[in-house]
Amino acid sequence: MNKRAKGVTVWFTGLSGAGKTTVALEIEKILKEMGYYTQRLDGDIVREKLTKDLGFTKEDRNKNIERNTFVAKILTDNDIITLCSFISPYKSAREYARKEINQVGDFVEVFVDTPLEVCEKRDVKGLYKQARKGEIDNFTGISDPYQEPENPDIILKTAQETIQESAKIVIDYLKKINTIK
Ligand code: ADX
Repeated sequence: MNKRAKGVTVWFTGLSGAGKTTVALEIEKILKEMGYYTQRLDGDIVREKLTKDLGFTKEDRNKNIERNTFVAKILTDNDIITLCSFISPYKSAREYARKEINQVGDFVEVFVDTPLEVCEKRDVKGLYKQARKGEIDNFTGISDPYQEPENPDIILKTAQETIQESAKIVIDYLKKINTIK
């Protein structure tokens, strides 16, 4: 039987290749096995549909976050554990998300703190290489800023932890704040 959680948005922020999607996928798997309703919102996916018209200027990134916050708020209001994976490089946009979501439920900011060198070495999508060659503009960490969270609820160090260890840190936190049992 599916279980109802207390509404929450878990917001993963960090560089491209930091591991936001990978950890969110693992958490989604664990939560589903536990019987909870969960929904992921992921930059790479929503940018093909909901925010297809947007690029990577500060203005467009903030619009991306605003629209996805709107969706996350609806899901959270319906007690779905919402897992958001967006670079979300600007502090003001993340604060906006927190403020909106907090009107209906909990907001957990997870800083996926993977050093640029590690992300660049992983270069899963080959984008860092292209950014270094100047083939992609406004690339976070290379030619665009990333404002690190000053006071995140959780910090994950994916360069040192396994995916399972990182996921467990988040699951344990959700138990601690009584989102899940
Ligand atoms: S955000 O800044 O608006 O939060 P989002 O997470 O949706 O970004 O999208 C990031 C993904 O878009 C990256 O993982 C990468 O695959 C792709 N991407 C394409 N161009 C860029 C760019 N200039 N900067 C960062 N990511 C980019």
